Amino acid sequence: MLIIAHRGSSGDMPENTMQSFEAAYSASADMIELDVRLTKDNVLVVIHDARLLRTHKKIVAVSGKTLAELRLITAGTMPIPTLDEVLARYYGRVLINIELKGRGAGVAAVELLKKAYIKKVSGWDNILFSSFHGSELLKVRKVCTHANLALLHDENPFMFVAYHKRLQLTAVGFHRLYINRLAIEIAKKAGIFIYVYTVNRTAAIEPLQRRGIDGVVTNYPDRFRDYIDSHLASA
Ligand code: G3P
Ligand code: CA
Repeated sequence: MLIIAHRGSSGDMPENTMQSFEAAYSASADMIELDVRLTKDNVLVVIHDARLLRTHKKIVAVSGKTLAELRLITAGTMPIPTLDEVLARYYGRVLINIELKGRGAGVAAVELLKKAYIKKVSGWDNILFSSFHGSELLKVRKVCTHANLALLHDENPFMFVAYHKRLQLTAVGFHRLYINRLAIEIAKKAGIFIYVYTVNRTAAIEPLQRRGIDGVVTNYPDRFRDYIDSHLASA
């Protein structure tokens, strides 16, 4: 069972921060999940919400400010990392799941990866792009045939069936409350990796594994690593 650290170790650290990613890395998470958006000056920053209200208590839209302005506004609070900063620290050390939030983030991320990180085709296997929007993944597929793509699902676990031919998905992400036996079977037959979000109880690991789930997105990668190492090491 692959452990995907949701916004880093976000159960123990502020989400989508370098502290959270470092905790996930130390916990030996297999993959670090993070959310990216573009600033007004087209820099990819790592933040989940479109606004800073929930995380930084500021009524500010990320897309309406430059990186320098965001840095000024959030000075004295938890710094918002750029995707470049996260990649500089973790690319090639741990798998990175870049969830695309907001338009244009995918193409910008491919450009950054091509420019500064990925020097050979196998390099793309360090990265998984995910989105709830097939249209955003299609834009990535257009500019990069080697990108690993994951379509995220909410209530409807069959959305990937309509997209798979065009996207050539590596993975699908299902909401833990909307897992469907037939959808799992179809994904398995197509050779698609199946993960579930967001799972925070270790007691759920074995039932999910029995249902054919390959990975879990969790806020507690340390607990999940301990549980898997002690209970499922030889499974
Ligand atoms: O990757 C699964 C999960 O991150 C999707 O939901 O809202 O946490 O980005 P959200
Ligand atoms: Ca996410």
